[in-house]
Amino acid sequence: MNTIQKLTMMGCTALACGGVWGGEVKQLPKPVMTGGMPVMDAINVRASGRLYDAKKPVDDQTLSETLWAAWGVNAQGKRTIPTARNQQNMKLYVLTPTGTWFYDGGKNCLVKVNDENLIPLTATQEFVNDAPVHLLYAAKDDKWGRCHVGSAYQNVYLYAASKGLATVIRGLIDDSALTEKLGLKDGERVIAHQTVGWPEK
Ligand SMILES: Cc1cc2nc3c(=O)[nH]c(=O)nc-3n(C[C@H](O)[C@H](O)[C@H](O)COP(=O)(O)O)c2cc1C
Repeated sequence: MNTIQKLTMMGCTALACGGVWGGEVKQLPKPVMTGGMPVMDAINVRASGRLYDAKKPVDDQTLSETLWAAWGVNAQGKRTIPTARNQQNMKLYVLTPTGTWFYDGGKNCLVKVNDENLIPLTATQEFVNDAPVHLLYAAKDDKWGRCHVGSAYQNVYLYAASKGLATVIRGLIDDSALTEKLGLKDGERVIAHQTVGWPEK
């Protein structure tokens, strides 16, 4: 059973990863930070993919590496993407039918922030419902916040290219409702949604 299924069907057990939210916690497997396709090859085959195999779940290791590519901490102790003035202030959530999870990249874990299914607020296109993984990016609604999100989703595109996953970044979402549901404050808002999954054969 993979992480999303586990999170969906039975919640999760609090492990070593302490959360700032005080919610349920799911430790992710350590991402493999080496190997994969040469970066020039990954850039060369990168594409948006909207056809997912709805019956093939994304395993924990792949989910962990997807999240790490977007917003993890690398072997240099740096985020996998640059941020203006090193503010490291982007937020990354994973949406599931039974709740929303905050990705703590420093601790490589997911922390549950609510029990709501927010996927319908992103599902303005039919294919969204077939995607096994739903990433939601939030950032400061200023000059740099959207740049940070762009760096993160491009990393996911490159990881997906290397791994044979399909992904697409999406702006057609109810970002105002999602911002409110997540209780974002201080000029932060939901910016984009990214679906990830194995391509339909
Ligand atoms: C900021 C942004 C928002 C996008 N929003 C959507 C979207 O809501 N739905 C969608 O299907 N594709 C969306 N896309 C994907 C684009 O349609 C896609 O990148 C474009 O058609 C080029 O295709 P390619 O990525 O395969 O090169 C978005 C892309 C970007 C960069």
